[in-house]
Amino acid sequence: MTREGGSELEKNKRRAPIGVFDSGLGGLTVLRSLHRRLPCENLVYFGDTARVPYGTKGAPTVRSFARQDAGLLVDRGVKMVVVACNTASAFALDHLQETLPVPVLGVIEPGVTAALQATRGGVVGVIGTSGTIRSRRYQEGLLAGGLSEDNIMALECPLFVPLVEEDKMGQTMMHLAVQEYLQPLKDACVDTLILGCTHYPLLKEDIGAFMGPETVLVDSGDMLAEAAVKLLREKELLRRDSLEKDEANSTGEMSFLLSDLPWKFADIGERFLGRSIEDTTIVGLDEMEAAGYQHERDNHD
Ligand code: DGL
Repeated sequence: MTREGGSELEKNKRRAPIGVFDSGLGGLTVLRSLHRRLPCENLVYFGDTARVPYGTKGAPTVRSFARQDAGLLVDRGVKMVVVACNTASAFALDHLQETLPVPVLGVIEPGVTAALQATRGGVVGVIGTSGTIRSRRYQEGLLAGGLSEDNIMALECPLFVPLVEEDKMGQTMMHLAVQEYLQPLKDACVDTLILGCTHYPLLKEDIGAFMGPETVLVDSGDMLAEAAVKLLREKELLRRDSLEKDEANSTGEMSFLLSDLPWKFADIGERFLGRSIEDTTIVGLDEMEAAGYQHERDNHD
């Protein structure tokens, strides 16, 4: 018997990779959190770089893209799907949880839970793409957690995504955007702010400097990694060696699937992931459409 124990089938299930998808490269911040927390799990990342951004698109389009993204990962044999994209979590998580044959985790619930734990005065802000904010998923989660509508301030910050991708952190352009978008949150004295977008963890310093040290910034990625450990354990899918090692001794491998290779892929990817990216495969949109269709059909036969 190996140290993993159990039947061959069970061992294979535990050893399968975790699939993570995002509209583009922003989800690499979530992948980074997952790898830090689960350094021995293999991770397969899919970034829909051909069709990013999702944050400006309508719900049916995002849901259809998300179904294809997740379907592609299920086809690769993943044991769990993590929806790293806030916009896709907002519009498609329920649908994916109902239709996919593996557990699915999104970023919104972990972010809401963390904010509810962190708030001292009960005044919480959330920032994200237009889609995420208009879906009201964060707001509904906070209301369900006992906050009142008057104590929740949700704001769309669409310019943050391109500014982060252009590496404008700490620069005048970014300071202006931060001030323009976040002044109402400061005026409302929010004590906790949910960074409800994959790109915003890279803005922690700019946002923190503007909001001041009293405002707790909640990074959904870190909370998601905790939720992933819990869910994998519950479903008996956690590798037995998963939590024994630290990041420096990690054995988990990462592989990357993208629907397009953006010009600045290497720069942006490294900034988001904190290391260079190897082992990248380009997946055509035809294959993705087929993946979405396949899982839809499987569930309606
Ligand atoms: N990944 C998206 C999110 O977290 C941001 C980029 C986009 O608009 O697609 O909502």
